[in-house]
This record gives sequence, structure tokens and C-alpha cells, in this order.
Amino acid sequence: FLPLGSSFEVEDEFLEIIGIRREQSGMYECSASNDVSTADVRKVKVTVNYPPHIPDARNIGVPLGHKGSLQCRALAVPSANYEWYRQDGRLMHGEKGVKIENKGTISTLTFFNVSEEDYGNYTCVAVNKMGNSSASIILYSSGILHC
Ligand SMILES: *[C@@H]1O[C@H](CO)[C@@H](O)[C@H](O)[C@H]1NC(C)=O
Ligand SMILES: *[C@@H]1O[C@H](CO)[C@@H](O)[C@H](O)[C@H]1NC(C)=O
Ligand SMILES: *[C@@H]1O[C@H](CO)[C@@H](O)[C@H](O)[C@H]1NC(C)=O
Repeated sequence: FLPLGSSFEVEDEFLEIIGIRREQSGMYECSASNDVSTADVRKVKVTVNYPPHIPDARNIGVPLGHKGSLQCRALAVPSANYEWYRQDGRLMHGEKGVKIENKGTISTLTFFNVSEEDYGNYTCVAVNKMGNSSASIILYSSGILHC
């Protein structure tokens, strides 16, 4: 692993980075020189692609008749596309009181008015060309607190 600002010399015009890691993404500079000419410098942007990883998925409690949102956040390069599933199949945006919104690295599944049958086990699948990852999120009934 090369710290920022480090340099090294190779005889070849290729640099091979074996076992490249995510944090090695960035700008690399290549400088070619010989005894008779000044150095020719080129910059190369290196992007490390990796499959989605969902670091945390939290269950959520929502009282009957209220608005509730399930959130799924995936780390991925290139950024992930999201799919939401229930036991009985895939959920689509605009279906029976459901909204699916993808913003940045977060996909949000919103129920405008939670009903009994909405409670249950949901699966969020994050997909990019490198692979996929899924997480299950439970929408459960929570009571309303009266003070
Ligand atoms: C939510 O759905 C229930 C049952 O369909 C209905 O009685 C209630 O008025 C709805 N609430 C809102 C805020 O739309
Ligand atoms: C939710 O569904 C997933 C996948 O179908 C399963 O692995 C998980 O055990 C379920 N969780 C609960 C609490 O039922
Ligand atoms: C996720 O990846 C597995 C193989 O690793 C594949 O079988 C499955 O179809 C993929 N699912 C989606 C939704 O792309």
C-alpha cells in the first residue's frame, strides 16, 4: 500500500496493483522520463469497484394508521440499485400506498398509512455489476404513548 505522496520507479509502462483495496481509489500520477527529455507527466484516475455491503439495517416500529419508513443503506461502487421484497414478491413504487425513493446511498420504503397486513418481514436487495447483498428489516406494530 502506497501512502499519499509516495513515489516509486518501475521500468515498465504498466503499474500493477495486486489485491487493490477500496481506499486505494484516487488519482495516480505517472511520470515518464529519460536522459534527453524532460519528464512527461500523466494523471490517471483509479476507481476500485466493489459489491454492495449493507452495514446496518434497523427494524422499525410504527403504530397502526401512521406513516412508516424502512431504510436501507448500501456502500457500493458503482452505486447500488435497490429492490424491495416481501414474502409474496417484489414491491414497486406507487403500489397500494407504497413509495420507494432512492437518494444517494439510501433507499427508503414508505407506507403512508400502515395497516395490519403491512407488518412483517421485508428484504432490501442492493445490486451493482459486482454483485449483490441483502438485509431483512421488520416492520412491527408499536403502541402510541399517551402522556
Ligand atoms: C388509514 O387507513 C385506514 C383503513 O383503511 C383508514 O380508516 C384511515 O382513515 C386511514 N388514515 C389516513 C390518515 O389516511
Ligand atoms: C426475515 O426473512 C429473512 C429472509 O427471508 C429470513 O432470513 C429472516 O430469518 C426473517 N426474519 C424473521 C424475524 O422472521
Ligand atoms: C444476487 O447474487 C446471486 C449470486 O451471488 C444471484 O444468484 C442472485 O440472482 C442475485 N440477486 C439479484 C437480485 O441480483
